[in-house]
Amino acid sequence: MFNLILFGPPGSGKGTQSEKLILKYGLKHLSTGDLLRSEIAQQTPLGLEARSFMDRGELVPDEVVIGMISSAIDNNSQSKGFLFDGFPRTPAQAEALDKLLEFKGAPVAAMLSLEVGEDELIKRLVKRGETSGRSDDTNEEIIRARLAEYHKKTAAVADHYKVFNKVVNIKGEGHIDEIFNSLCSEIDARM
Ligand code: AP5
Repeated sequence: MFNLILFGPPGSGKGTQSEKLILKYGLKHLSTGDLLRSEIAQQTPLGLEARSFMDRGELVPDEVVIGMISSAIDNNSQSKGFLFDGFPRTPAQAEALDKLLEFKGAPVAAMLSLEVGEDELIKRLVKRGETSGRSDDTNEEIIRARLAEYHKKTAAVADHYKVFNKVVNIKGEGHIDEIFNSLCSEIDARM
């Protein structure tokens, strides 16, 4: 089993690159944002709880997200490996993920961190908000709240994996295919 984390602030291209990486490497894509939006669409109790946080651009509580990812890992136990997108997003989530994967005997191989400047992130998300229908893309105030939440709570996750020498920084600005090639070079070196 080969497990990767694709890391970076909102709008850095995690979802875009994940779609391409799972096709190339046959990994199971686990995006907590997608899982939460699916719970909201189905109007489950979990979705109803998550929605108020997401609409404000805040993180959903750790226990909700950790329980959800734990079930997703169990439900895909035959997978060749996982590509985690948007998870972990707090040091507590990182510790929980490490424990879940330790149990499977397959720790995180690397955290690939997409580096994109703040102005470019805002530009991308405002543009996507014109058509995406995502409540958290609808105005710049919420987008800025998501970025603030990232700096306050999520950036520290990189420190957690730096201790284990697992963080690889990748330039996340430029052509999508060039960024994809940079990611693939790093993955190939570790597979
Ligand atoms: P989530 O769905 O994870 O959203 P996010 O992290 O805010 O990320 P985005 O999907 O907005 O951006 P991305 O990095 O995937 O970039 P994308 O490829 O889409 O989370 C949403 C919410 O759910 C959170 O705010 C939180 O409330 C909750 N949540 C989720 N996970 C959680 C967790 N673990 N714990 C607690 N709460 C959690 O690209 C963005 C745009 O840029 C697109 O339009 C794309 O076409 C464009 N683009 C991509 N690459 C390029 C490029 N190279 N050049 C130009 N444009 C590009």
